[in-house]
Amino acid sequence: MEEKIKKILQKALAGLEAATTENINELQSKFLGRRSELNEILKSLGKLSLEEKKKVGAQANKTRQEIEKAFESKRQQLQPKVNDLKIDFTAPGKYFAVGHLHPVTQVMTEILEVFKSMGYEIADGPEVEDDWHNFEALNLPPEHPARDMQDTFYLTDGNVLRTHTSPVQIRYTEKHKPPIKIVSPGRCYRNENEDASHSWSFHQIEGLVIDKNITFADLKGTLEVLAKALLGPETRTRFRPSFFPYTEPSAELDASCPHCKGAGCRSCGYSGWLELLGSGMVHPEVLKNMKIDPDKYTGFAFGLGPERVAAIKHEIPDVRYFWHPDVKFLEQF
Ligand code: DAH
Repeated sequence: MEEKIKKILQKALAGLEAATTENINELQSKFLGRRSELNEILKSLGKLSLEEKKKVGAQANKTRQEIEKAFESKRQQLQPKVNDLKIDFTAPGKYFAVGHLHPVTQVMTEILEVFKSMGYEIADGPEVEDDWHNFEALNLPPEHPARDMQDTFYLTDGNVLRTHTSPVQIRYTEKHKPPIKIVSPGRCYRNENEDASHSWSFHQIEGLVIDKNITFADLKGTLEVLAKALLGPETRTRFRPSFFPYTEPSAELDASCPHCKGAGCRSCGYSGWLELLGSGMVHPEVLKNMKIDPDKYTGFAFGLGPERVAAIKHEIPDVRYFWHPDVKFLEQF
């Protein structure tokens, strides 16, 4: 037995002499692994007499340690030395381009943060809508001329690609009752010819507040906070009467131009004002469609386009830039 163990040690050391990075693992399991000769011996110690067990056991364990140590130092030897590596430590670093959020996403996040700070919840809705949610429930019956305000992509199954985020108002109120205070960001689609201010796809953020005693003053105050947060604290706002079938009265909000402070410049077409969004008090018919009693509750709603806000903020003359994957353009934000 003693002889056998000695032989194992010799074989292991001899084998290790010629070991390389490629086969050192294999060798290690051959000499030290569970099926190695040495391990078989250690396992069979139980069959020996007490005397023998002591002697052989000690020898086998010592041999095991020796082999382990030899492997350890061989591994050290095999490690490449810094000087052997062909690395030029003086070479300049490689440039990795780091991306960032798209300017429209940045503005959307900014807008949502303003509303979150005022206690709004964020709601979501589908981009493929049915006629009820996109039009009818919003007081736009099939033959209503106001449907012409929004050129629609109709799907073959009768559904539509939502033309605005207003249908989320209807969807949300199917599951929630007042008090309601939500904003809903998302993508919309319209069958329009593209030009500097129109695109067949764009984003909107819808807002809806319904509770007892909500007035036009609440709408005005809320939108003033938004305009100042987005365009600067000195921003002034004004309402212009407008028409949307789902609000009565309806108004569009203008903000004083942040670039000329209202004096008139190229960005605002020399008017000093920029159109920001559409809004109004939720129409009683719409409240009824939401199964909310218009004698008990009132509400306001608004819808704004983040592309528009981003274009105003960064003085971008053409919304088509937002949809072109042009890194030179995007890098600027
Ligand atoms: N849906 C309108 C649009 O697409 C925006 C809008 C106007 C939303 C008035 C509203 C609102 O909720 O009250 O232009």
